[in-house]
Amino acid sequence: MAHLLITGGAGFIGSHTALVLLEAGHSLVVLDNFSNSSPESLQRVKALAGLADDARLQVIEGDIRNPADLDRAFGAAHSIDGVIHFAGLKAVGESVQQPLRYWDVNANGSRCLIEAMQRHSCRTIVFSSSATLYGFPETVPISETAPVQPINPYGHTKAAVEQLLADVNACEPSWRIARLRYFNPVGAHPSGRIGEDPGGIPNNLFPFISQVAVGRRPQLQVFGGDWPTPDGTGVRDYIHVMDLAEGHRAALDRLLSHEPELLTLNLGSGLGCSVLELAAAFEAASGKPVPYTIVDRRPGDAASTVADPSRAAELLGWRTRRSISDICRDGWVWQSANPQGYDV
Ligand code: NAD
Ligand code: UFG
Repeated sequence: MAHLLITGGAGFIGSHTALVLLEAGHSLVVLDNFSNSSPESLQRVKALAGLADDARLQVIEGDIRNPADLDRAFGAAHSIDGVIHFAGLKAVGESVQQPLRYWDVNANGSRCLIEAMQRHSCRTIVFSSSATLYGFPETVPISETAPVQPINPYGHTKAAVEQLLADVNACEPSWRIARLRYFNPVGAHPSGRIGEDPGGIPNNLFPFISQVAVGRRPQLQVFGGDWPTPDGTGVRDYIHVMDLAEGHRAALDRLLSHEPELLTLNLGSGLGCSVLELAAAFEAASGKPVPYTIVDRRPGDAASTVADPSRAAELLGWRTRRSISDICRDGWVWQSANPQGYDV
């Protein structure tokens, strides 16, 4: 059993990963400022994990940019063996409008966290990076050796934190670091008790489709029907959030049981799915129509991004196990049981 600090653990990916780690027997301190999440998600995680008391899941409301909040989080357990760092801002369009805020939360926040880790003699970290840092990929599927060439401030902050971690590792090789580059995380826990709860109008395809199916939005706008893809719509590598959560557990297990190392891994399925294929799979899973119109391309989109996930398979023994229909089934269980997300 390890004592772990989970920053941003109340959010979409953090809550599912927290559940998987609790089920694996670990003890968690979650630090979250709830700027994009609800404390209710962690109440539900606790119930799903069958925790009778708070002993293995402590929740601290605080900000990763505040050293005192970080010290409180590190002080909540006798010692923290490792950190899983999810806390951050993730909306590409917003990052173009508010670059300073993104650099502050994502880059400066990560620097504050790493400083706190040094203060508390913790040198194991799993970092939420993103396939966004590949920009417009030159070849697909994308391997980890592809150039890092982000095209928006959000992607620049992810690349900067990856570099910061590499610099820390070069200076002090006793650090154990995993930089996990997620492709498109979607879906929900199969119970429908926890899931993705975006505020306002969803930017991303999967929650938008779910909200159309549940009747919150009239129709989907498909951004471009003339891409160089089989059906003309954008192709992505959608990964079930439970597969992603299990990928974190596998990365952590490796870091804690091997010699210190710097790992850089794609977490994706290796399979491409178009916008229209995803909408059709969601209709089949939900039994609800997902009407759509094709509109102009969205600026900044790539035609196709699909992971080469072979390095994660080789080093972690991890690969995705859940299909697009599993993703849609579980996403629909969550959306139909919680049409307003956690606001109910
Ligand atoms: P999310 O917004 O649901 O979760 C982020 C959590 O961090 C939220 O609970 C939020 O309240 C918290 N947070 C934000 N700023 C904070 C701060 N200053 N101090 C403390 N807590 C703070 O997002 P998510 O989808 O779960 O993403 C988690 C991580 O994965 C992010 O770093 C994101 O950039 C990265 N990522 C997400 C995706 C995706 O499509 N969801 C893809 C690639 C990478
Ligand atoms: N799309 C639509 N209509 C919508 C929303 C999206 O047609 O209403 C299309 C997009 O054009 C794209 C595909 O659906 O072809 C997927 O778009 P998303 O916005 O769901 O996902 P992206 O691949 O653009 O980006 C997401 C996150 C990024 C992250 C990236 C890789 O938003 O932060 O996945 O992990 F970096």
